Amino acid sequence: MRSAAASLLIVIIANFLLPAARATVPLTNTLSASASASASAPAPVASLIQSGYHFQSSDTQSLQDDDFKNPGMLWVDTGRQYFNDAAGLKNQACASCHEKLASSVATTFPKMNQHLGAVVNLTTQIQHCRSQHQQAEPIDYESETALALTAFLANQARGQRADHHVLAPPATLKQAVEDGGRYFNQRRGQLNLSCNNCHQDSVGKMLRGDLISEGQSNGYPIYRLEWQSLGSLHRRFRACDIGVRAQPQALGSDTYINLEAYLKQRGAGLLIETPAVRR
Ligand code: HEC
Ligand code: HEC
Repeated sequence: MRSAAASLLIVIIANFLLPAARATVPLTNTLSASASASASAPAPVASLIQSGYHFQSSDTQSLQDDDFKNPGMLWVDTGRQYFNDAAGLKNQACASCHEKLASSVATTFPKMNQHLGAVVNLTTQIQHCRSQHQQAEPIDYESETALALTAFLANQARGQRADHHVLAPPATLKQAVEDGGRYFNQRRGQLNLSCNNCHQDSVGKMLRGDLISEGQSNGYPIYRLEWQSLGSLHRRFRACDIGVRAQPQALGSDTYINLEAYLKQRGAGLLIETPAVRR
């Protein structure tokens, strides 16, 4: 499945993004047909900063719009429970220490955590609190618990600007943003494409039935229909890296946290939409 998908991707990219390479890959009718624009595709405006929402079909958009239909809300509700459940050696809940956590807290990540001496995102902060402060079983980055808590806190900030903290970043974060920007613009993988080649140069083109968006991060974690689950921004990064046949980075790695910091700055002005719904 992965290799069929990958070869399909290569053919379609060759067809749309790299016309010069066209002669080197076989084109079949099936493959070129799957690349034609879908009827419900909205018309993106190239020069705007736009949420990925505008690149989804109206069916998917309406799932996101209605909290009763949005499957991601299940994780938000579970996350609220986890936040209030006592756990760990001290039998404390997140809420025991964080009764007054601001609804906007999700907008402040990634940021420098002085205790850890490292830039953290919301999920690695939660992982740190869970094991160090709550003294409970560590949770994996993409576990249901981590996703639910991340979605709950991000949803608390829904409608707020996603970019607090990154517009005038302290030096440590500035470095992270710079490193992330470098990753974004670097070509990689067998297809030799950068994030920028797709999410800047090819915005509005079709790729395997997807309308290529600007690759913004303001809806994460998202419910993705293809995953049948909620998933993190880093899982999406991995899917894109694997899509160009590059070695993906680890979930929660510094490289992806830096990339996340860069995307937040690049998408300045967008509002948080968690949990967004994607195809
Ligand atoms: C070959 C083209 C291609 C490359 C290269 C690529 N992506 Fe993507 N990316 C896609 C497609 C297709 C989607 C799904 C449709 C969409 O939302 O744009 C996507 C989705 C995304 C999304 C989700 C946007 C949303 O609103 O849900 C993010 C974030 C993203 N990519 C970031 C990246 C980053 C960071 C890189 C580099 C590490 C990268 N992409 C490289 C094609 C690409
Ligand atoms: C025993 C107290 C305690 C518990 C329990 C605890 N935390 Fe924390 N949390 C802290 C402290 C102290 C900090 C700041 C220092 C640090 O990051 O180590 C913090 C920082 C945070 C921050 C960043 C706040 C900000 O303004 O930047 C978030 C978000 C957070 N915790 C979420 C959680 C979640 C979710 C849980 C439950 C899994 C949890 N915490 C459990 C003590 C706790």
